[in-house]
Amino acid sequence: MSQTDPQNTWKHICNVDELDDIDEDEGLQVTVDNGAIVAVFKVNGEYYVIEDLCSHGNASLAEGFLEEFDVECPFHGGKFDIRTGEPTAFPCATAIKVYEVKVGDGVLFAKVSPQVRPNAEEDTDA
Ligand code: FES
Repeated sequence: MSQTDPQNTWKHICNVDELDDIDEDEGLQVTVDNGAIVAVFKVNGEYYVIEDLCSHGNASLAEGFLEEFDVECPFHGGKFDIRTGEPTAFPCATAIKVYEVKVGDGVLFAKVSPQVRPNAEEDTDA
């Protein structure tokens, strides 16, 4: 059995100065070296890393709009709390992943597990 649990491996996300160029109401999409796609936000100097997939459909939350700690999905307006991943507005009902973060030497790291993309709650083609 492997001694390394991929769930508990710190992954390089980005240099923190990359986030200086984006507004606080916007996210940055990053593809991690294990294939996971995450959305990064900075609020009041704190960093938040979440999975970049709405639980309601195939939407990037990095392309959403952040208001305080709620990111609004660009497809149907559902929202999630980026601190907990819990849905905060209809039609989202299933939590998304949030990842533990740390900063060292100007680099943002997060414990990002390999991406498993479950089926979304519904087809968004309608
Ligand atoms: S795909 Fe995100 S709210 Fe529908």
